[in-house]
Amino acid sequence: MLRSPTLLVLAIAACDPPPPPEEPWAAPARKLLADVRAAIDERWPVAETIHGIAPHGAYSTIWRDPIAEAARTGGARDRWPEGATFLCEGSRDQAGDESISTMILVRKDGAWLWAQYDAAGEPLEYGSSTSCVHCHQAGSDFVRSIELPE
Ligand code: HEC
Repeated sequence: MLRSPTLLVLAIAACDPPPPPEEPWAAPARKLLADVRAAIDERWPVAETIHGIAPHGAYSTIWRDPIAEAARTGGARDRWPEGATFLCEGSRDQAGDESISTMILVRKDGAWLWAQYDAAGEPLEYGSSTSCVHCHQAGSDFVRSIELPE
């Protein structure tokens, strides 16, 4: 038993818990963000800033990839095609200077893959069944800011 408060403090200081092990999906989540950012720099010119209602930022700057853009400007459809990708930078201010989180939505193997990152790009969520789904199901095939053509 540790009876002395000094000893107790020393014992607690010596037993700093090790950092929690990384989630198994952290590595693929980081790769997804790196790949999407590189693709945006090369060939995703379309970005819109919306002063919206999303919980992940008062202002959302939203990019869509060429697959999503082709679907958006093509004929009527009820699903976004395989590979369609959206990136949303959530920020507190309109200039996007204060990014608070980054979200990615990709249609992969028929399902939606969701990913969220903190301001430093560290993954917070990744997978097909996340806290994002319940709110996004009100969208156009789960996309909230862009409508599928009718
Ligand atoms: C409470 C509702 C809500 C939740 C929960 C939510 N979002 Fe959103 N999201 C929105 C809204 C609304 C928009 C459109 C922009 C706006 O109005 O602010 C949006 C936009 C987006 C976009 C841009 C494409 C689109 O759908 O318009 C992505 C990507 C995105 N969210 C990903 C996520 C991810 C990943 C999560 C979970 C970590 C998540 N969202 C959780 C409401 C939500």
